[in-house]
Amino acid sequence: MPLVNSKKMFEQAYKNGYAIGAFNVNNMEIVQGITEACKEEKAPVILQVSKGARAYANHTYLVKLVEAAVKECPDIPIVLHLDHGPDFETCKACIDGGFTSVMIDGSSLPYEENVAVTKKVVEYAHNHVPYVTVEGELGTLAGIEDDVQVEHGAESYTRPEEVIDFVTRTGVDSLAIAIGTSHGAYKFKPEQCTRNKDGVLVPPPLRFDILEEVSKKLPGFPIVLHGSSSVPQEYVKMVNENGGKMPDAVGVPEEQLREASKLSVCKINIDSDLRLAMTGTIRKFFNDHPEKFDPREYLKPARANIKELVRHKLKDVLGCAGKAEECL
Ligand code: G3H
Ligand code: 13P
Ligand code: ZN
Repeated sequence: MPLVNSKKMFEQAYKNGYAIGAFNVNNMEIVQGITEACKEEKAPVILQVSKGARAYANHTYLVKLVEAAVKECPDIPIVLHLDHGPDFETCKACIDGGFTSVMIDGSSLPYEENVAVTKKVVEYAHNHVPYVTVEGELGTLAGIEDDVQVEHGAESYTRPEEVIDFVTRTGVDSLAIAIGTSHGAYKFKPEQCTRNKDGVLVPPPLRFDILEEVSKKLPGFPIVLHGSSSVPQEYVKMVNENGGKMPDAVGVPEEQLREASKLSVCKINIDSDLRLAMTGTIRKFFNDHPEKFDPREYLKPARANIKELVRHKLKDVLGCAGKAEECL
C-alpha cells in the first residue's frame, strides 16, 4: 500500500488504547531497522524526518528510502512525517515533496503567532490532494531540536486552558503537549531525580494531571508526546564502557509511556534511544575489533540492535504490535 496520513492510525489508537511509534530516520540502516521490526510485528508506523535530517541526508534520498520500505513492507501502513517543521515554507516543501503528514512547531512563538502559522499550514495541507495531516504544539520541551535550544528550567508545560481555542482555530489533526518530557539523552538533571539501590537515577513522574485535563477538554482528540526516549541503561553502559562519556543520561520510564498510550496519547516520538543503540553497538564493535574497517560489518549489528529495540517498543511500550490491519 502507498504511504498514508495519520488519520486512521490515530482513530484506532485512541479507540483501542495504544500509541503509534514515531521514529526519527536519518539513513538507510535506521529506516531498515525500524521497518523490519514493524513488518515482523505487524505494526503501523510513523517515520519522521527533522530539518536536520533533511539537511544531512537530503529530502530526495530520505523520501526514496521510505518509499523502498513501503515496497518491502506492503502490509503495514507507513506515514512519512516532518518532525518539528520550523516554518510554513519547510512544511510546504515537504507536502509538495511527498510527505503525508507534517508538524508545524510554533511552540516557541507568542501564542497568536503560533495560531497563525499553524492555521496557514493546516489550510495548505488539508487542501492538498491527498489530504496531509498536521500536528501542532503547545508548551515547550527542554532540550535541543535543530536550531532551538531550551535550557532546563526554561521549558513550559502546556496550559490546558489554551487547547480548545488552539485546536478549534487552527484545525490541527493532533496536538503535541509538554508534560515533563524533553529531547535528548539527559532529560532530567540529577538534582531533580532520586537514585535507586543500584545508583541509577529515577526521574520525577510526568505531569499526568495536565494530560488528563487536556484530554477532558478535547475528548477523542489525539495527543502527541515528544521527547519520549527512555534512554536504556544497557546502551548507556555500552557507550561508557567502550570509550564514550555519557554520565547520568536518563530518560522517561517506559511504564509511564505505556500508561500514557492507554489514555489519549496516540503518537510517541523516539529518536535518542535509536541513536544510543546505534552508537553503543558501533563503539563496542570497534573496541572488540580494532582491525576492522568495512562499514557493512559495524552497521549490520547496529541495524540489528535498532530492530530489536523497536520491536521491544512496539510490543511492550506502545502496544501497537499486531495493529497494522485495523489501521489500513
Ligand atoms: O526532536 C528532535 C529529534 O530528535 C530530531 O533531532 O534535529 O538532531 O535531527 P535532530
Ligand atoms: P527523544 O530525544 O526523547 O528521542 O525525542 C525525540 C523527539 O521528540 C523527536 O521529535
Ligand atoms: Zn520532538
